[in-house]
Amino acid sequence: MTVFAPPKTYRVKSFGCQMNVYDGERMAELLSQQGIAPAPEGEQADLVVLNTCHIRERAVEKVYSDIGRISKDWRRNDGTAPLIAVAGCVAQAEGEEIMKRAPAVSLVVGPQAYHRLPAMLAQAIVGGRPVDTDMPAETKFDVLPARRKVGPSAFLTVQEGCDKVCTYCVVPYTRGAEISRPFSDLVAEAERLVDAGAREITLLGQNVNAWRDADGRSLEKLIEVLAAIPSLARIRYTTSHPNDMTGGLIAAHRDIEKLMPFLHLPVQAGNDRVLKAMNRSHSVDSYLRILDQARAARPDIALSGDFIVGFPGETDAEFEDTVRLVEQVGYAQCFSFKYSPRPGTPAATMDGQVPPAVMDERLQRLQAALQRSSLAFNQGSVGRRCQVLVDRRGRQEGQWLGKSPWLQSVHFTGDVAIGDLVEVELLEAGPNSLAGQLLHPAHA
Ligand code: SAH
Ligand code: SF4
Ligand code: F3S
Repeated sequence: MTVFAPPKTYRVKSFGCQMNVYDGERMAELLSQQGIAPAPEGEQADLVVLNTCHIRERAVEKVYSDIGRISKDWRRNDGTAPLIAVAGCVAQAEGEEIMKRAPAVSLVVGPQAYHRLPAMLAQAIVGGRPVDTDMPAETKFDVLPARRKVGPSAFLTVQEGCDKVCTYCVVPYTRGAEISRPFSDLVAEAERLVDAGAREITLLGQNVNAWRDADGRSLEKLIEVLAAIPSLARIRYTTSHPNDMTGGLIAAHRDIEKLMPFLHLPVQAGNDRVLKAMNRSHSVDSYLRILDQARAARPDIALSGDFIVGFPGETDAEFEDTVRLVEQVGYAQCFSFKYSPRPGTPAATMDGQVPPAVMDERLQRLQAALQRSSLAFNQGSVGRRCQVLVDRRGRQEGQWLGKSPWLQSVHFTGDVAIGDLVEVELLEAGPNSLAGQLLHPAHA
C-alpha cells in the first residue's frame, strides 16, 4: 500500500477532444480551490491527473506509456513518486482494470464523476486506490467552483454524451446518453467567462447541435442570447451531427453576426453503403444538401469534417467515393483517421477488417486530397481583409498568432496584445496557416 503526503502541486494533462480540454480546466479549478497549486512549467507535480481519451487504440496505449514514464522518470530524490490519477474516457471504459494493469495509479475517476475528486484524493492519500465511474444524477456542473481567469478563446460544454451509436465509436459508452445543460446555467457561465477575459466562446458537445433545454429552446436560441453579451465578440460551436442540423441553426449563420462562418460537420465516409454499416443514419446526399443550405445562408462559410478510412468492408471503390466527396466539397480543414477497432463496439467484430497497409495507403491518399483542399481554401482567402483574434505570440520577435473568422491560423507582426481583435489583410497562404499584415495597429 502506497501512502502519500497531501499534494501541494498538481498538473492536469488532457488528451482527446475539446470536451476533455474543458473538463481538464474544470478539474484544475477544483484542485486550486482545494489549496493545491498548479506545478510550475518543467517542474514535477505532487499530483498528476491524466485526463484520457479512449477513441482509438493508440490514444489508450499512450495513457499506459505515460503512466510508466511518470512513475519512473519523475521519481523523487527522496524516493517518492507523484500521485497519479486517471480521469476521462479510459477511466470510464476500463475502470478497475487500470488499477490491475498499472500499480502506480492511485485513483480512477470517470468523466461524469470528477466533481468527487477532492473526496477521492483524501482516500488515495491514505492508500485507498478509489475508483468512481458512476454517472450520478447530480451533475458535476452543479458543484464545480466558478470559472477563474481564462484566455481570449474559451470553451463552454453545453451538451454531453451521445445517443447515436455509430458502430465504430466508444463515446456513447464512455460519456453516456445525451444530456443538455440548463439554459440559465450556460448564460451565467458564459457571462463569467467573458468577465474572466474571454472574447470568443466555443460551445462544446459530442453532439452540440442536439442541445435542447426543458423549455424546448434549441442551440440557435442559446447562441442568440449569448450574442447579446456586449464584450463577447465571437461564438463558435462544435461538434455537430448532420441529423441534428436544423434550418434554425443554419439560419443563425446568416442572422447572427457574432456566430463565426465555420461549420465542423463530420461525415466519416463518402459512400452510402459504408455510412449505413457505420449506422450514421444520413446519406452522402443528405449531408451535401445541408452543406448547400449552409452555403446559401452564409456564402463564405468554411467547412470542416472528420473521416475514417478502412472501416470494415470498405472496398477500394468505396474509399474512392470518399476522396471524390472531399474534392467536391472543398473543405477548409479536416481530421482523418485510420479505423481503430474498439472493444465492445459492433464494428470490431464485423467481417472484412481492412489490413493495416491498405489503411495506411488510403489515409495518405485522403490526407493528400485534404491538404490540397485546405491550401486551395486558404489561397482563396488571400487579399481578404478580416478580423483576427490574437491568441498568442509567434516564434519570431514581434510576431503574433491569431484566428480568422474561418478558423485559419494567421501570423503577422505589429504592436498588439493577446485578446485584441485586429484588422488584418491576408497576404500569403500555406495549407495550415496564412501570413497577414496588420491594418489598424491596436495601440496606435
Ligand atoms: N460526435 C462527433 C465526433 C466524436 S469522435 C461526431 O459524431 O461527429 C471524433 C472523431 O473520431 C469521429 O468523428 C471519428 O471520425 C473518429 N473516430 C471515432 N471512433 C473511431 C474509431 N473507432 N476509429 C477511428 N476513428 C474514430
Ligand atoms: Fe461517436 Fe457517432 Fe456519437 Fe459521434 S455521433 S460521438 S461518432 S457514436
Ligand atoms: Fe476521446 Fe472521450 Fe473525447 S473518447 S474524443 S476524450 S469524448
